[in-house]
Amino acid sequence: MSDELKRGLEGVLVAESGLSHVDGEVGKLVYRGYDIDDLAHEATYEEVLYLLWNGELPTRTELDAFTAELDAEHDVHDDVLETVTQLADAGERPMAALRTATSMLSAYDPETDADAEDREAALNKGRRITAKMPTVLAAFERARQGNAPVDPDPDLSHAANFLYMLTGTEPDAVSEETFDMALTLHADHGLNASTFAAMVIGSTMADVYSGVVGGIGALSGPLHGGANQDVMEVLHEVDDSAKDPVQWITDARDAGRRIPGFGHRVYKVKDPRAHILEEKLRDLSESADDTKWLEYTTAIEEYLSEDEGLAEKGIAPNVDFFSGSVYDHLGIPMDLYTPIFAVSRAGGWIAHMLEYQEDNRLIRPRARYTGATDAEFVPIDER
Ligand code: ACO
Repeated sequence: MSDELKRGLEGVLVAESGLSHVDGEVGKLVYRGYDIDDLAHEATYEEVLYLLWNGELPTRTELDAFTAELDAEHDVHDDVLETVTQLADAGERPMAALRTATSMLSAYDPETDADAEDREAALNKGRRITAKMPTVLAAFERARQGNAPVDPDPDLSHAANFLYMLTGTEPDAVSEETFDMALTLHADHGLNASTFAAMVIGSTMADVYSGVVGGIGALSGPLHGGANQDVMEVLHEVDDSAKDPVQWITDARDAGRRIPGFGHRVYKVKDPRAHILEEKLRDLSESADDTKWLEYTTAIEEYLSEDEGLAEKGIAPNVDFFSGSVYDHLGIPMDLYTPIFAVSRAGGWIAHMLEYQEDNRLIRPRARYTGATDAEFVPIDER
């Protein structure tokens, strides 16, 4: 047993997985062997979910059947919608509301008591969770605005349906395509912190709901999923400062600030997902004739790419650097960015839990003990 300590488990191999691979040196991401660029441009999120959960790309017939099964599960129980409204009224944060409501969904799952080893039941639960999370999140946002929820439309794609339930209006083709792409880009990413959290939970043979709820918790932090909102806040800060973006970033760096949307534990070059979202940001900015966020992000990226210190450490833009401004163009409120990430990544969490449980071994590392070993116990009334 090695006593070498690896803080943050950096670089430690804990499992084998055929789901996704991140090559951080060249900036390449594959899901089950397929390049993320091809999947984002050529496949729908539904196809990607099928791929992750079943191991191969679906035929047209298989995809139609799978999509129909997903569509049949978008509705959520009225009790959950009521709770979502109460959470909105209480001023709960969207990510926490999503966590609470996702947990509550399990009470209405017809297979909630299924044996943990029942793989079919686990897949069914995974499908229900993935289908219902967008409904929950859209209902929460509408409740915050004092609006009634919009019923899901089974004729719309997963991506279009979310935007429809959020706004009450069917999205145009560009918005649907962009959002679908964003869902695909965020669906899986090796053993990131939230996926590992879900896997640890799965390794106790706990159920899929517990793993997804744990994943949401892990994703909520600013070092992980929370960074996309932080990036948008930075862009607003630049705007409010009335400074030129180069001056703003110079001052921010001089003040020792860490810039959200830059840096990654695995990527040492620009994240391939960032390239794709940058392309989408460019399209959306040009078609809206509003290039402000594009100009700011480009200026910040150019400035930071010339910083030799950062380059030496392999600090380059990650997916979050562009996702926020893309969502802003789609009219999505800032504090929904991280919950949207969760809505997409749930597909990956579920896939990893199921994969790991097929050859399960309880995940149980050790800590090097640095506390006392010979403390003398004194009864409470004598201290
Ligand atoms: N801006 C400036 N410097 C940075 C940044 C940044 N965004 N990120 C890392 N660094 C520097 C650190 O200061 C550190 O420098 P030092 O060695 O001189 O002390 C060095 O790079 C290494 O940083 P660590 O925090 O040790 O690297 P780690 O691998 O633990 O961190 C992380 C990765 C957490 C993502 C980090 O880069 C970060 O905080 N980025 C900003 C938040 C962010 O964008 N998170 C989203 C990640 S992608 C995702 O979850 C989808």
